[in-house]
Amino acid sequence: MRILVLGSGAREHAIILALRAEAAPHELFAAPGNAGIGRDATLVDLDQNDPGAVTGFAHANAVDLVIIGPEAPLVAGVADRLRAQGIPVFGPGRAAAQLEGSKAFAKRVMEAAGVPTGRARRARTLDEVAAALDDLGAPHVVKADGLAAGKGVIVTNDRDAALAHAATYLTTGPVLVEEFLAGPEVSLFFVSDGDTVRPLSPAQDFKRLADGDAGPNTGGMGAYSPLPWLADRFGSEEAFVDQVTREVAEPVIRHLDAEGTPFIGLLYAGLILTDRGVKVIEFNARFGDPETQVVLPRLIDPLSQLLLAAASGTLEDEPRPRFTAETAVTVVLASEGYPAAPLTGRVLTGVDAASAVPGTHVAHAATATDGDALIATGGRVLSVVGIGADAADARDRAYRALAEIDLDGGQFRTDIAARAVTG
Ligand code: AMP
Ligand code: GLY
Repeated sequence: MRILVLGSGAREHAIILALRAEAAPHELFAAPGNAGIGRDATLVDLDQNDPGAVTGFAHANAVDLVIIGPEAPLVAGVADRLRAQGIPVFGPGRAAAQLEGSKAFAKRVMEAAGVPTGRARRARTLDEVAAALDDLGAPHVVKADGLAAGKGVIVTNDRDAALAHAATYLTTGPVLVEEFLAGPEVSLFFVSDGDTVRPLSPAQDFKRLADGDAGPNTGGMGAYSPLPWLADRFGSEEAFVDQVTREVAEPVIRHLDAEGTPFIGLLYAGLILTDRGVKVIEFNARFGDPETQVVLPRLIDPLSQLLLAAASGTLEDEPRPRFTAETAVTVVLASEGYPAAPLTGRVLTGVDAASAVPGTHVAHAATATDGDALIATGGRVLSVVGIGADAADARDRAYRALAEIDLDGGQFRTDIAARAVTG
């Protein structure tokens, strides 16, 4: 197949590596990509958010499938244009992508579809925020309504801090005050053709910057999959996945279809396993980053076939995707100053030595080449992935590989998947 992947992160590199690992060879293009992706796909110089440019490239190059990685092209209507021109595309149109782009839209859909989620109040003024904070009680959760790259949320016991956070985001639009949900978090991905859904394997990501879940929220500092402790709570991973498919994914997909905005792409359910059941904290309209880096290496069936079936409306004919019993752990290397103000342009060394550690590979997130040197160009720079027999083995490999890499001021967590090892 001739496949174009839009995006430039480690998630997109993971998608490309999964396509490359298939038995059938593909012709792969990536826009804009990064230095690591450039080793595995042909980089294309086009604006990923320009529907005309993407569609023009796909036509001119007889592309069989476009896979949209990040949310920005979805919101820009790239999938709508491709679909209107008859080009198979994995990614929802602008209307369905609001499931991610607008928390208020997501809450409304969940309510209409009967999907379990926390209570929430929408507020437009500080007085409304204060009333909602007092109504819902501490700990306080305040979120920006629109896209904020994981940084729009505050979870705090400090009422003044919650108000201050709200004040920052009220300048750009309404905020959501939510009931605090306590329990472990799980990310579960579903592939959808607008009608049928197929679940992938659960993962957990580590959103806080520092060890022990300290520090600010980030885009994600690491992840692992599968989650051995799900079997203790639900009997098996499969029982958990079946329950979420039934209670969350299918009702949402059916509801969006009935509203005339079918969701064709990746439904990402961000879940909290509370004492009162599984609840949704957020949806995303795309693969998660860094969870994709640990889910896709475990996928046994060809990714291209699954995503093309979703794009073509034939997912019903595809069996449930299968995953290896191995564990994958990824640790993110971030630049100094991330997430507030990452310092970029620094030299990265040791990436090849890292990949040479058995059972590991490196997915590039923000890298460029400068002559022979590799340069860090953004906040999250690399996702180092270890794959092993269990969490201890995978963790050990990932951290051994990471130890080979040098980046001045580089930050990473040392406790990714540590509790999966100790139980
Ligand atoms: P979000 O941007 O909605 O994914 O939120 C980012 C992170 O904030 C989540 O992964 C949770 O760790 C935390 N969070 C968000 N909403 C809640 C909530 N209602 N209760 C507890 N934690 C939350
Ligand atoms: N890992 C969180 C996200 O992709 O939004």
